[in-house]
Amino acid sequence: ASTAEAFRVVANPNPATEAERAEKLSSLKFGVNFTDHMARMTWSMDEGWTDRRIEPYAPLQLDPASSVLHYASEIFEGLKAYKWADGTIRTFRPQANAERFQRSAWRMALPELPTEDFMASIRALVELEKDWVPTIPESSLYLRPFLIGTDVFLGLRQPMTVDYLLIASPSGPYFSGGVKPVSIWVEQEYHRAGPGGTGAAKCGGNYASSLRPQIEAGKRGYDQVLYLDAKTDTVLEELGGMNVFVVMKDGTVVTPVLTGNLLEGVTRASIIQLLEDDHLKVVERDITIKELRDGVASGDVAEVFACGTAAVVTPIGKMGSTDFEQQVGDGQPGPVTLKVRQTLTDIQYGRAEDTYGWMETI
Ligand code: COI
Repeated sequence: ASTAEAFRVVANPNPATEAERAEKLSSLKFGVNFTDHMARMTWSMDEGWTDRRIEPYAPLQLDPASSVLHYASEIFEGLKAYKWADGTIRTFRPQANAERFQRSAWRMALPELPTEDFMASIRALVELEKDWVPTIPESSLYLRPFLIGTDVFLGLRQPMTVDYLLIASPSGPYFSGGVKPVSIWVEQEYHRAGPGGTGAAKCGGNYASSLRPQIEAGKRGYDQVLYLDAKTDTVLEELGGMNVFVVMKDGTVVTPVLTGNLLEGVTRASIIQLLEDDHLKVVERDITIKELRDGVASGDVAEVFACGTAAVVTPIGKMGSTDFEQQVGDGQPGPVTLKVRQTLTDIQYGRAEDTYGWMETI
């Protein structure tokens, strides 16, 4: 039972026509189109969370001195709603996102949104926008909850006023071209996070700072960037927006241990569980770049893949840096990667029984 107050609906007077919506739902890219409404709540130091509402999707009015615009007082989440063949709409492990949203908020000195409000906002918006949930294969309604500091003050302090917003984007795959392996640039110049930094928080700044390395890697012909730890420059952390897994020839799967410098992926945690239940040994530990390179060279490393809500499970076919370039296995998606991807998406799209209770019906 929810203790959250209801979200009052201010209907969009000019929603997309059925034809416009059909058009948008027929050619889906990631994160380009948005539904007619957004959920919103306001927080102030004095009053806490108030004014739960659904309002027309529209540009925000922000005072130019708002703290988000100057000091990046911002956190976000990403999760998806899927339309099943039986017509029901389900989200994947939304409580996990709600809890991580609270941890991110704490780290960034933003107010923690109660789980009930997070869940209620998702239910209210997705229920209203149910016709926007796409049905073509590999598509979903991508949900983007976020908090912004709206404090009108240029002094550096914890924001006294904050807005919570939830927007929804009918989306196709994050990487176009199906389950195509991506190439990763092993970054030896820039770091994503350092000890005691914000690496585990899902704050916009982490992603903004990944863009320069991403551009430089792109110029070298690589799709994504893999970061090493800032302290020793030897241990794998994560990609710009995805966690990473390494599959050994003997079937053991290793993934970087959560050091506080990397994001605790919901997909990451789910994959660990699925692999273990498929009787594979999963070890969360440090993996050095040397171990990875040597393993790829000797064949001890059979597969490498990345994962995330947006990216789902994405095979890595090639790795390189200033001083090396290697193909992983035969450069094609490996069997463990493909199987766990299938198992996960079968649960998400309702093609297999959800024995974990991961899917939340709207
Ligand atoms: C997600 O996977 O949902 C994220 O938030 C990562 C983002 C780079 C799209």
